Amino acid sequence: MLNGKAYRDWIGEHMTIGKDLLYLSEAECRALPLSDQEIFDLTERALVLYSEKKTDMPAKIALHPIPDTFYHAMPASIEEVSSAGLKWGSCYPDNRDRWGIRQANALVIYNDYLSGVPLAVMDGLFITEIRTPCVSFASAKYMAKRGARSFGMVGCGIQGIEHVRIAMNTLAELEKIYVYDLYEPAAEDLIRALQPQVRCPIVKASSLEELVKSSEVIATATIIPEKPNPQIRDEWVSKGQTLLLCDCHSLFEDATMKRADKYTVDSVAQHQLLAGYGYYPAGLPPIYAETGEVCGGHKPGRESDDELIVCNNIGMAVEDMMVLRVMFDRALDLKVGRFLPL
Ligand SMILES: NC(=O)c1ccc[n+]([C@@H]2O[C@H](COP(=O)([O-])OP(=O)(O)OC[C@H]3O[C@@H](n4cnc5c(N)ncnc54)[C@H](O)[C@@H]3O)[C@@H](O)[C@H]2O)c1
Repeated sequence: MLNGKAYRDWIGEHMTIGKDLLYLSEAECRALPLSDQEIFDLTERALVLYSEKKTDMPAKIALHPIPDTFYHAMPASIEEVSSAGLKWGSCYPDNRDRWGIRQANALVIYNDYLSGVPLAVMDGLFITEIRTPCVSFASAKYMAKRGARSFGMVGCGIQGIEHVRIAMNTLAELEKIYVYDLYEPAAEDLIRALQPQVRCPIVKASSLEELVKSSEVIATATIIPEKPNPQIRDEWVSKGQTLLLCDCHSLFEDATMKRADKYTVDSVAQHQLLAGYGYYPAGLPPIYAETGEVCGGHKPGRESDDELIVCNNIGMAVEDMMVLRVMFDRALDLKVGRFLPL
């Protein structure tokens, strides 16, 4: 991948830096050619660079205008790929009930790494959709039991669908995927949409308890209320399981988090900030490692089949800046999007 001056010169061959601003809609981002493997590799690299302190990324700055809602400002720069920018995202869990729309929304500003000039404004939802499960499965690659046969997905919305869609890319020996959603049609829609492309059966769990007791690897992507509302009883969770949390501790009892043999997070600084906002009223468990330290080989992942491992990844701007650099390049290359005057 080009970087530094060579990258800036390449951009300058496609647009006038400082005069043009590329606008990329969600549909245009979705249509860009990007393979699952490419997105996974970029995301994993971002995790490693972050934990090796080779990126610049402050913890998310947050607003909480209405109870249980949040906005996050997510800036980051990555020297290795000359990428810098900001994702501005919001999450309003009641949006479906109140307005009939999704809970998450996001826009990205992408800047020229060498001059700081804005180059693009683009959709931030698609990038969030595709990089988040890659973080979960980058964790699973090193921390799930080898040869895991069962995966359970709690929450069948945007993230649930993407997790189930790519689960077998990492957990290649899955024989069954369980899904559960409070809103049953979401689970049914997921199965209808994904079963034709997923190699093992996807079944609707009859209860959260069945899903938790039946799945060696469990991912959760539901809602993040300001105070956790645990619905998964500690006694349902057993040694050997791997828990991939996209929604903090929302569904689990504190006892489960605290008895994990390994508790990992994507960014210590970010989770400490969330703790300061009150998201972990019982306190954060001792942190074994950042995800990127494990992915980068600096700390061991799973060391025995008996370990209970929790991977709590809240999402990082470095993942976005890594993947969107490639999306931006591809859009320029393929002449996708439209230029606005800066
Ligand atoms: N960690 C990250 O990087 C990251 C990135 C994106 C989203 N998220 C978080 O992931 C969660 C899901 O995001 P999304 O975009 O998929 O949302 P979504 O609204 O599309 O889907 C959420 C689903 O969870 C279901 N649900 C809610 N409470 C539930 C419960 N107690 N049990 C079972 N199902 C329940 C809802 O019915 C809905 O179908 C949100 O909390 C969001 O903030 C995290």
